[in-house]
Order: sequence, then structure tokens, then C-alpha cells
Amino acid sequence: MVVPYADPSPVRSWQNYFDTGEYMIGRYANALELGCDCLGDITYLDAVIADEFGHPRVLPNAICMHEEDYGVLWKHTDLWAGSSETRRQRRMVISFFTTIGNYDYGFYWYLYLDGTIECEVKATGVVFTAAYPGPGYEDVNPYASHLAPGLGAPYHQHLFSARLDMMVDGHHNTVDEVDVRRVPVGPDNPRGNAFTKHHTPLRTESQATRLADNRAGRVWHITNPGSANRLGDPVAYALFPEGNPELLADDSSSIHRRATFATKHLWVTRYDAAERYAAGDFVNQHPGGGGLPAYVAADRSIDNEDIVVWHTFGLTHFPRPEDWPIMPVDYTGFTLKPVGFFDRNPALNVPPNASTHCRSRTTDPSDGCCHD
Ligand code: CO
Repeated sequence: MVVPYADPSPVRSWQNYFDTGEYMIGRYANALELGCDCLGDITYLDAVIADEFGHPRVLPNAICMHEEDYGVLWKHTDLWAGSSETRRQRRMVISFFTTIGNYDYGFYWYLYLDGTIECEVKATGVVFTAAYPGPGYEDVNPYASHLAPGLGAPYHQHLFSARLDMMVDGHHNTVDEVDVRRVPVGPDNPRGNAFTKHHTPLRTESQATRLADNRAGRVWHITNPGSANRLGDPVAYALFPEGNPELLADDSSSIHRRATFATKHLWVTRYDAAERYAAGDFVNQHPGGGGLPAYVAADRSIDNEDIVVWHTFGLTHFPRPEDWPIMPVDYTGFTLKPVGFFDRNPALNVPPNASTHCRSRTTDPSDGCCHD
């Protein structure tokens, strides 16, 4: 994860922090407190981390696990039969918080009843500031927000790389890019209403360095060609990117050479146990080109192979007055959704809400009898 700053002034232009790699997200994880950081029936896990000398140190309550309600899972009112069914969504939350200098990051994995997996990063804490002479300064320095009287905050990005060691129903997986596609009027589309989707196979590492495209509805399907669902199609999970801006620094910049992973939203590599870090093993201490650009240089096949999907996501932060003196949580992340991984809605067996004020009549599909 890297935080490049946009201010070209002599004192700020060299500031690009690898909040993971240069700093250690695990090393600075918080010990969480019941009733403050997580609410409900909580299970905490301690973590054993290494100190600066390599000695083990136990961090109590480092990881929080709990379940929470997440609104409606599925619902239908049948106007003809007069029946009404609602099921509540719940999600399993696995989270931790870490403090990197002035910023605090929360990392949340959500596991939903319908098979959806979501990663959410929360950014909060105290924005990195500088002197700001006053109104009109934006004409001199169009690279910072006026945050409070006399105080500015340079524009910056928080760019994360998620290393997703995919295993969709087995080790051998394949990635397709899926876009919407408009269809011109023609013999097969006389009224012009047609649209479809277009699959682009990504079969080598060089083909799979890709950018998101929200106007094309772009998603990436990770399939297992050797495992079919009941319709005969390969089981798949789709990666839904947020599609926020990638690294904005110039191609010739120092940070571009060291954080090249952040110039693409998607990379796919053949699994190699030694290839663990998107910016390489030495992160800010190599001349450039380390990590993902070096990993994909061999242009290995990723067609029905043991693969790793690397996803860049994050925030481009133009600080607001409301971010001072402490910033309300901002969110970024991505979602993995099953697409034909299951044969039908996998959440049919979720029981109805037992609350007595739910007045709808429900039919329990498991016993076929009606009850209030
Ligand atoms: Co920020």
C-alpha cells in the first residue's frame, strides 16, 4: 500500500509513503477493546508479531470476529397468493485496525449468506497538513485543500494491492474480462434494443494487466474450467472493482518506478511462493521495476493454472474541511460475487425472522406448512 502526495513543492514532492512495506501494517495493529471497536457478541484473536529485533510479541485482541445484521437478504410479496416472505441478511465480520503515523486504517472482510465476499478498508485519523496562507492560495498551489484557517492538506492517494490467491473450487483457475457491449441495429437487432456482454480471455500474464472501466460495467470472472455447475458452465466468482483512479504520478516519477503495481487495477500471475509483495521484497529500496512488473516479465501462461489475482484499489483524497481535526471514516474496497458458483440461490434455507412483530404470513419451504 502506498500514499503518494501531489504537492510538487521542494519540501513535499519527495513524500510518498509505503504504509505497508516501509511501515508495517501488522506491526502497528491496535489491541481492540470490547464495546468500543466492535459491538455485539465478539470473538477476539490475539496475534503474535515480530518486534524490531525479531522477538515474538503477543498483541492481545488484535483481530475481531463477529456477526451483524445487514438488512434484507431476499424478499417477495406475492400479490396473487397473498403471501409475503422476507429473510434477513447477516454477515461475518473479520477485522483489525492499525495506526500508521497520522492515519488509522481498518481492514474488514465480510462474508455474506449469499456467498458474497467483500473487502473494505476504512481510512480515518488526522490528515497530514501544511501552512496555507489563505483564500486565493489555490491559484499559487493547486495541489492542496484549504482545510482550516491557515492550514492546508496536500492532495494524495491511498492505493492498496490485494493479493488474492484464488482457488475457485480448486487450484486451476482462468480469468476472463467481461464488459457490456452495445449492439448496432441490423437484421438480428431490428429495433435497436439489444445489448449483450463480451468476454475477453486473459490467458497470459501480459494480457492480464488491466484497468477498470465502470462505463463498460467491467468485471473479471475467475472460473474453474474443470468444475461445472448444474447448467454445465464453469463455476466462477466475479471481482467487482470500484474503478477509482490508479496511480496519478507521472510515468517518469520515482514513485511510478517503485509502485508500478498501482498503475493497473488488475494483474494476474502464475502462483509462485516467492512472489508475495506487489512492490517487491524491498519496496522503497530498489531502483524500480520490482514486484509485479518483474513477476509478469516472464509472461507465463495463466490459463487453467494455479494463479494469483492482484487487485489495486483505493482512494484519491482531496481533503475536505469536514476531515479536520479528525477525519470521519472514508471507505474503499472490492467485492467478490459468485457467478454460477452455486446452482441456485444459496440462501434459501435461511430461517424467517422469529420476531413476533413480523406480521407477514410465511410458508416454510422445509415443512410446507404455514404459520404466523
Ligand atoms: Co487521505
